This record gives sequence, structure tokens and C-alpha cells, in this order.
Amino acid sequence: MKDKILEVKNLTTIFHNVNQDVTAVDSLSFDLAPHEILAMIGESGSGKSVTNLSIMQLIDEPGEIASESQILFKDGDRYIDLNKMTEKEMERIRGDRISMIFQEPSASFNPLFRLGNQVGESLRLHGRSTKEEAYQEALKLLEQVHIPNSTLRAQDYPFQMSGGMLQRMMIAQALSCHPDILIADEPTTALDVTTQAQILGLLKEKQRETGMSVIFITHDLALVEDFCNRIMILYAGSLMEEGKAKDVISHPMHPYTQDLLSSIPKPGMFKGVDKLFAIPGKVPDPGEKITGCPYAKRCSRCTEECQASKPGIAEKDGRKVRCFHAYC
Ligand SMILES: Nc1ncnc2c1ncn2[C@@H]1O[C@H](COP(=O)(O)OP(=O)(O)OP(=O)(O)O)[C@@H](O)[C@H]1O
Ligand code: SF4
Ligand SMILES: [Mg+2]
Repeated sequence: MKDKILEVKNLTTIFHNVNQDVTAVDSLSFDLAPHEILAMIGESGSGKSVTNLSIMQLIDEPGEIASESQILFKDGDRYIDLNKMTEKEMERIRGDRISMIFQEPSASFNPLFRLGNQVGESLRLHGRSTKEEAYQEALKLLEQVHIPNSTLRAQDYPFQMSGGMLQRMMIAQALSCHPDILIADEPTTALDVTTQAQILGLLKEKQRETGMSVIFITHDLALVEDFCNRIMILYAGSLMEEGKAKDVISHPMHPYTQDLLSSIPKPGMFKGVDKLFAIPGKVPDPGEKITGCPYAKRCSRCTEECQASKPGIAEKDGRKVRCFHAYC
């Protein structure tokens, strides 16, 4: 624990919808080391965003984070449980010690205000700068994230930016207070591959310069091998596999990870008889009652045992895997 910046223990987040309860995150435990880049991977609906919104204490009704869930964050020489903080205490942490680049750019920027003012706003809100100082700092940040003509572009409104430029603006905004942790929720999903590579390069550059830790959320396993230190694979709100990025990619143990890797298109694969593998079936419906392994309906190795009960997490040599029949 001493060397962790964040330790999440048994995080459970449930949405009490009118018709049914949806367990978006189910007893999830993980940690984050200083300077580490951790990838959180899973298909749509696997609970990636809800996990990180729970860390930020941004779950609104009908959502509820179970009171026994612990989100321990290193604050100086002690750990504080973010799940026990008041809203006022969280305002001190959010945007300052932990920043988030939201999946939706519209959640980060107000369409009615110029970007330069918005990028420096956290500095002002956290009492670090006056309005003018914050604007000058925003101009520096725009240069640091390689916005061309940054002084002019600071005068623009969000709708005047391309997707890639708006992502750079969001990174600048998230970095403004030098956070200990940056949560990047699918920051490259809507971008073309060239811009995607530029944004990943920029995030890595800033991570190296500042020493911050990063939680990088994506559904694209192909992106993360060189970019991240560690990978977590989520499915239906549960951890399926975790390990060093290189180990998980080169030697996946969980059938779901193996299937995800097999689904990645490779150059030349359509020349011969090869076809792109697609995982059969679909992710469980939100609120679906699952008694056995969450992946059972889609798994080629499913047995009666898998349908009868949910496997626990087995841990060995820094790897974690939730499967009765994992390749070891
Ligand atoms: N505000 C909400 N109200 C009700 N259910 C919600 C709410 N937000 C999320 N959920 C449910 O929680 C589950 C996890 O959602 P989450 O947004 O974390 O998925 P995700 O892994 O981030 O998916 P994506 O890749 O599409 O962003 C889903 O079943 C979703 O329907
Ligand atoms: S527990 Fe069974 S169904 Fe689940 S991933 Fe492993 S082999 Fe497949
Ligand atoms: Mg999401």
C-alpha cells in the first residue's frame, strides 16, 4: 500500500432504475502506482466510465456507490477514503489532485465560453491564480499541448475546434493544476489514426514530464501495449484479467482477452482464407441476472461449472485472472 497513489477495494456501483437495478461495477478492486499508466479495457457497457466516475464521486441518482466500497487516495503522508468525503472535500480533490478527460467533450467545455478562459478555470477555482494569471497559464498550456497559433485559438469557442484540437484542449485543461492522477476516458476513440497517435504521444510526453499516474480507458486493446504499463480487462462490471501490458498481450490467460485479441484486424489477413474473428453473442443486458461466469454465454470453453457459479480471481506472479479454465 505504501507505494500506491490509489487503492480501490470492492467498488460496487448500482443504478436503481425504475424497472430494475443495474450493477454497473461489481466488487472491483485494483490499485495504481505513482508514475504508472494503467489501461482499463472492455466492451461498451463493461463499467469503465462508471468505475472512474465513482472514483471522482460523480455518480448521481439513481446511481449509488455501496458504502462499504473503499477508494483510498494518497493525500500527503496519509490515505483518505474518497467514498467517505463530503462534496466540499471532493471539490478540493477534483480537477486539482485528480483530473478527468471526459468521454464526451461536451462534459468538459461550456459551448458558450471561449476556450482560453475555460482551460485556466481550474486554477482560479482552486484559488491558485487570479483570472488574468489563469489566462496566461492557459496560453502556456495550449502551447505545451502543441496547439498552433495558441494565442488566437484561445479566443475560439468549442464548436470551432476539430476533434483532435478539442482533445488537446481537454488535456491542457486537465493538466492545468498538475494532478497526481489523470483519468482519460476514451480520449482517442472519435479520432482518425494519425491524430490518435499524436494524442497518445502527447499524453505520454506529459506523463513523463509531470510524473503523474494515468488511468487510460479504451475499448481498443491494439492501442495499449506500448503505451501502458499495466492492463485491466473488464467485462459486465467485473475484472476478468490483469497484468503487465506486455504479458497480457503476449500471453493472454482469460478466454475473453484471447477473443478480444483475435478480433483485432491485422494487415494482410483478408488475402488468404483468414476471416476477421468476431466474438459471438453480445454483452449481457444491463440488469440481467447472472449466476455463473459473466462470459459464459460467449465462451468456447464454457462448462457446466462455469454456468453454475461465478469464478473467483486467481492471483499468481502479479497476474490476476477470473476463469475456471484459464490457460496458465
Ligand atoms: N446514469 C446511468 N443510469 C443508469 N444506468 C447507467 C448510467 N450510467 C451508466 N449506466 C449503466 O452502467 C453500465 C456501465 O456503463 P459505463 O458507462 O460504465 O460503460 P462503459 O464501459 O464506459 O461503456 P462505453 O465503452 O460505451 O463508454 C451500463 O450498463 C450502463 O447502461
Ligand atoms: S469461467 Fe468458464 S465461461 Fe468463464 S471465461 Fe472461463 S472458461 Fe469461459
Ligand atoms: Mg464509457
